[in-house]
Amino acid sequence: MPPFAQDLVYIASAVLFVWGLKRLGHPETARSGNGLAALGMLLAAAVTLLDRGVVSWTVLLVALVAGTLVGTLLARSIRMTAMPQLVGTFNALGGGASALLAAAELVASGPNGPSTGVGLAIALGILVGSVTVTGSVVAVGKLQGFMPSRPVTWPLQRSASALLAVTLAGTAIALALLPEVGPLAPALAAGALLLGLALVLPIGGADMPVVISLLNAYSGLAASAAGFAIGNPLLVLAGALVGAAGLILTHHMCRGMNRSLANVAFGAFGAGDGTPGPAESDAPVRRTTAEEAALLLGYASSVIIVPGYGLAAAQAQHEARKLMDVLVDRGITVNFAIHPVAGRMPGHMNVLLAEADVPYDRLLDLEDANARMPRTDVVVVVGANDVVNPSARDPESTIAGMPILEVDRAANTLVVKRSLSPGFAGIPNPLFHLESTLMLLDDAGAALSALAREVREL
Ligand code: TAP
Repeated sequence: MPPFAQDLVYIASAVLFVWGLKRLGHPETARSGNGLAALGMLLAAAVTLLDRGVVSWTVLLVALVAGTLVGTLLARSIRMTAMPQLVGTFNALGGGASALLAAAELVASGPNGPSTGVGLAIALGILVGSVTVTGSVVAVGKLQGFMPSRPVTWPLQRSASALLAVTLAGTAIALALLPEVGPLAPALAAGALLLGLALVLPIGGADMPVVISLLNAYSGLAASAAGFAIGNPLLVLAGALVGAAGLILTHHMCRGMNRSLANVAFGAFGAGDGTPGPAESDAPVRRTTAEEAALLLGYASSVIIVPGYGLAAAQAQHEARKLMDVLVDRGITVNFAIHPVAGRMPGHMNVLLAEADVPYDRLLDLEDANARMPRTDVVVVVGANDVVNPSARDPESTIAGMPILEVDRAANTLVVKRSLSPGFAGIPNPLFHLESTLMLLDDAGAALSALAREVREL
């Protein structure tokens, strides 16, 4: 293929990536955005394969077929609530692929080693890619529950991690400047794998959303570095897009969680100071039934519904919509309050509610919702826990400082969940024991249907 034709296809792929990303910004256009970006990637892969002296078509075809099969199966079978784990797994694979690509380029550069610029790109690819692999494996383990979601710490953990990071940065620079230290590359990779573990193990499960989006950015930066190493402009661009998008998302998530990026990058947050969180309260809990709660709702003038992970787990978004409809029919003002990290992925609640055709103008962000709480008659918390936990105001708590939906400031709070068990962060919720809180202990779908039915019959 003539070089100008390859460049043209690369430009077309780049346009498709950017256009796809733009369309991913809104739930209504996200699906087609995904398709456009995938088309861009298909074009890029095809042209690269046509252009390069391919080592073994058999190996490539087997890999392509196996990858397509596994990818299709995964995408079809994964539950929406497990999406962060899937993204974490992709991050690990992307980071690993970039590190291997950079290492292969180092080997291919022969005994004289690469030029300084390429050497730096190779070192960065190996360093950032390897950190991404183990960091992502730990993050997936914490989210999936095969590793403890609590912060795992050890003596001098922060200083040891900082020392390791500085040593690895020094090794990477040496690798770029002095071709004769090429044999240090495996040590750089091993140290970076260890650093990935050291950075993510001390972070508590509730902070995993920020970690996953930061690792997503790392995987993009590693790909970009690998692109520089092998001289492929499209890989540089695709990696830079993923890196930049990941960093922007991380920034948003940090704001949502009230954390600073520096804290996240050095794994120094979410660990608390080792003191246990608040103990389970002895105060009684006021349980209610759908009939009783319907009276409270049916005669309110303003209601805010707060969806959380439990709404997604129960797939009760349509029931939530039906409850909204019957309340609106009675002239009640109904809104949904969306916490930025409610559920298990960014925008999780927005996607669910869009699926049930809840109008966008009924969705309130954290600030707007909190401003309205004191003027709201009833807040219905459906399967949300950490994002409404008032112990975030307690400086001793492991979720200290995390912004919450201040549902305890409303006149009445109705909490719908199946038991009094804690949420993802694993800490008790004093909200359940407040005078103004009523607990409706049931599956979200069944409870919301019963509430809608009872309100309709009033
Ligand atoms: P959680 O704190 O995880 O609480 C969800 C609650 O839903 C649980 O307490 C559970 O109580 C209840 N539940 C589960 N299944 C239910 C069902 N079928 N019917 C009714 N209730 C059900 O959820 P949240 O308040 O949305 O907070 C999200 C948490 O996940 C935060 O800690 C956040 O940091 C973390 N996280 C978020 C993300 C993103 S990006 N959103 C990613 C990873 C982690 P019962 O078992 O008693 O029913």
